Amino acid sequence: MFLETRNLDEKKVFDLVSDDFRYAKALDSFGIDFFDHYNSTIKDICSQNNLDKELLVGYRVSMDESFDLDLETLKSSPINLVIEYLKHNHSYFIKNKLPYIKNLISSLSVEDKKYEFFNDLKFIFPLFYEDFVDHILEEEKYIFTYIQNLYHLEGNVKNHAKMFFQMKNISLKDIAEEHLNEDSEMAGIRGLTKNYSLKYINNLHLKVIFQELKEFDNELEVHSNIENHILFPRALDLQDKVSDEIRNLSFLN
Ligand SMILES: [Fe+2]
Ligand SMILES: [Fe+2]
Repeated sequence: MFLETRNLDEKKVFDLVSDDFRYAKALDSFGIDFFDHYNSTIKDICSQNNLDKELLVGYRVSMDESFDLDLETLKSSPINLVIEYLKHNHSYFIKNKLPYIKNLISSLSVEDKKYEFFNDLKFIFPLFYEDFVDHILEEEKYIFTYIQNLYHLEGNVKNHAKMFFQMKNISLKDIAEEHLNEDSEMAGIRGLTKNYSLKYINNLHLKVIFQELKEFDNELEVHSNIENHILFPRALDLQDKVSDEIRNLSFLN
């Protein structure tokens, strides 16, 4: 999307963010909470914060540039690259996306209490956050490490004894099945927000939160699809290959 910048000077923060919720994130990157400056014009906000308007607009434009790899590219990439890509997603969720949404939710003001889900959202989001971080840590610490070990061992099973015991202790098949069948961590929030519907939401701060949550939910779904449909099936094939190699080697010995 190309943004018209000429008329931006006199535009109020409220109108800018109402037209394009991503400007809330762009302002946040420069340390400005949009919800504290609804009536300020962009010109004022930039001069108060010593911020060049072009930088703000440039940041906003850069948010539309995607560095995502498409599924076809990932399907034909080595499995260790798929893992690096998934880890990159994890770090973006944990270091960028979720702290921003957490801050948006915790700064919702009391007047928004007229929405019945207000308290539930404030209560449920930190719990979701905790579960999500656990999920990511478990993947990185155990599952991805195990798959990477398999990857490095393929065709070179000389040092296979350690792997043999690791394979006995981990059931990749069960982990893959569980991952495929488990509900999205976002299921609770999806229900609470009626699938992020903006129909009855007038409050701009909440609208931004709903749109951010919806976007995160979509990104998480793509991420889980890569794990379910690319990573795990390929890791299971790799595990079969390595276990055949170990079996053959043991047989020859
Ligand atoms: Fe993941
Ligand atoms: Fe996952």
